[in-house]
Amino acid sequence: MARGRFITFEGIEGCGKTTQLLLLASHLRHRGVTVVTTREPGGTPLGERVRNVLLDPQLSPRPLVELFLLEAARAQLVADVIAPALESGKFVLSDRFADSSLAYQGGARRLPRATVQGLNELACAGVVPDRTLIFDLDVELALGRARERPSTSADNRRFEDEVLAFHRAVAESYRGLALAEPARVAIVDAHGTPEEVHERTLAALAGVLP
Ligand SMILES: Nc1ncnc2c1ncn2[C@@H]1O[C@H](COP(=O)(O)OP(=O)(O)OP(=O)(O)O)[C@@H](O)[C@H]1O
Ligand SMILES: [Mg+2]
Repeated sequence: MARGRFITFEGIEGCGKTTQLLLLASHLRHRGVTVVTTREPGGTPLGERVRNVLLDPQLSPRPLVELFLLEAARAQLVADVIAPALESGKFVLSDRFADSSLAYQGGARRLPRATVQGLNELACAGVVPDRTLIFDLDVELALGRARERPSTSADNRRFEDEVLAFHRAVAESYRGLALAEPARVAIVDAHGTPEEVHERTLAALAGVLP
């Protein structure tokens, strides 16, 4: 069977990843495409437990511990969900994936890039996104959206409560990833209405969508 397609959604908190993933999933389903959506950290029972550990404001995992936890959840997600779906020809949309570790644990937490890259490769076992979209929005605007969003509760504030400089470092690191791999990684301007951003998302997926 034909191998499916794998699209990942990246960017700082509140930039609109989840909103755009849901819009794209519904766009594809209307066209009869079988879509699997997932998220990181999470996406499997083990991964969702790891997510709770990572986002718990009572715990303060060191940067390297944060990376190990993320990679553990990622390895499980690739093996149990993403690789099987791609092998059966499905479209997989993931809310964050390996590039998040490069931007957060590498770029912002300053772990060596080669370490993050090496663990990403181990966890991903050869699975590479066909296209990665980075939603680019002013940091203050994005964090404002994230804080106003109804689902924001104490348990997912650990990253959102990082200082502005942290989020700027993440955003900067994401831009570097797009420059380094222009064929895979596209920056999508995330200003404007969800529908406007959706149109830009479709344009950025030229050649990947059916
Ligand atoms: N284009 C937009 N214009 C205005 N508000 C938006 C837009 N896109 C998303 N929002 C709103 O902004 C908030 C954050 O969006 P969303 O949850 O999609 O971001 P996210 O990148 O998934 O954030 P997180 O990383 O924290 O999960 C939500 O309340 C959402 O409804
Ligand atoms: Mg989200």
